[in-house]
Amino acid sequence: MNKALRHAVIAGNWKMNKNRAEAKALIEEMKPLVKDAGCDVVICVPFTNLETALAATEGTNIKVGAENCHFAKSGAYTGEISADMLTEMGVEYVVLGHSERRQYFGETDVTVNQRVKAALEAGLKVILCVGEMLEDRENNITAELVAMQTKIALKDVTKEQLKNVIIAYEPVWAIGTGKTATAEQANEVCALIRDVIAKVYDKDSADAMTIQYGGSMNAGNAEELLAQPDVDGGLIGGASLKAKDFAVIVEAATKG
Ligand code: 13P
Repeated sequence: MNKALRHAVIAGNWKMNKNRAEAKALIEEMKPLVKDAGCDVVICVPFTNLETALAATEGTNIKVGAENCHFAKSGAYTGEISADMLTEMGVEYVVLGHSERRQYFGETDVTVNQRVKAALEAGLKVILCVGEMLEDRENNITAELVAMQTKIALKDVTKEQLKNVIIAYEPVWAIGTGKTATAEQANEVCALIRDVIAKVYDKDSADAMTIQYGGSMNAGNAEELLAQPDVDGGLIGGASLKAKDFAVIVEAATKG
């Protein structure tokens, strides 16, 4: 599998952090630091910061994403946001299936699949998150579980639509814990996901697929993780809230 065939993407997932003024300040600090990036740079921000982020990044190389969207086009879904609402604003990316959504908000592989299809149909690029819990790893079912999550999330997604999907491998035990997967563990599961794509679609699709690692990636460990042959980028939580740290990770991805 040839890494040069793929696009490296570093995406920040701000989660439920930053008010509008803080968001603007963080983006302004980040802009000059990442302007020469040799990878794609995305920031996925709370819904309330989308407008601020779109305005602040206009004319720059920073793309803006949301952290979730609903599968219906519109309707009686209090508190939800549709994919069309995001594209209408100019949002390009959306994170779907994040483990925090699965853990705390009852999202399942099936609803993740519905959201993925709705987002792709609306023209969004999807960052699809998969990953095992610590218990799954201890029970030696990481491979089966991640393969299942990937297959169900992508059910009825066409080969053409797949070009707008990035998969983020995020072991749940490594998220926000400071406990990073080793570079070998990250690469092993990213490679396994690529094999699943090759089997369900074909080798060309698998070769072209950007697969990120996420989970306590930071300025200190990014280079080693991103140098792995099957790790094409990162989905960054905590470290994406610090412009300088995020820029170091972008730099590491540029080196690949
Ligand atoms: P941390 O980088 O804070 O561990 O979060 C990772 C993550 O969940 C990104 O989506």
